[in-house]
Amino acid sequence: MKFFVDTADTADIRELAATGLLDGVTTNPTLIHKSGRKFMEVVEEICGIVDGPVSAEVVALDHETMMKEAEILRKIADNVCIKVPLTIDGLKTCKALTDDGTLVNVTLCFSANQALLAAKAGASFISPFVGRHDDNGFDGLKLIEDIRLIYDNYQFDTEILAASLRHPIHVLECAKIGADVITAPPAVIKMLSKHVLTDKGLEGFAADWAKTGQTIL
Ligand code: G3P
Repeated sequence: MKFFVDTADTADIRELAATGLLDGVTTNPTLIHKSGRKFMEVVEEICGIVDGPVSAEVVALDHETMMKEAEILRKIADNVCIKVPLTIDGLKTCKALTDDGTLVNVTLCFSANQALLAAKAGASFISPFVGRHDDNGFDGLKLIEDIRLIYDNYQFDTEILAASLRHPIHVLECAKIGADVITAPPAVIKMLSKHVLTDKGLEGFAADWAKTGQTIL
């Protein structure tokens, strides 16, 4: 399973990339706004931190303008992945870009039928929003399950990029279902390493080690 971080905060990205566990980055217009930085400049910096795909989202709603925006974004670096919305114009843009060898992440996916269309459009990644699905009274994880089943039925190469993950249980369940990639905020990724018994165990070992009066170095 690949781990992407969902942020445009380059300090957080550097910290996670240094662990060697980070496979890519996803951004969206909200995260760019939160960073307070220029879109192109921050994407370029992120592309220099990680080797894997860095999603940069178009903001136009029509195919022609999306293509023009994508043209500018994909010149930033070889690892830029163009993010397009799950609309007919977005799917058309996805098809044109992937036919041309560009990585495309189709975002704002809230149904398995939408995911089916994205796979047919040759998407590199489909981003179903688990948390936002839950927020609206639907079962976000069931959506991941349905997409997994459909993609396996037809051996689609499109990778399921589970997005809008809010807590470690989302990550765990996505791993059990077989999502190809998860993207989550830095805090959620860091939480995966935490366990109260790990902390307690460490405290105990440190206290007993001190009693031995020994050192390793
Ligand atoms: O980047 C897309 C997605 O991960 C957004 O998550 O928490 O704003 O629903 P959230």
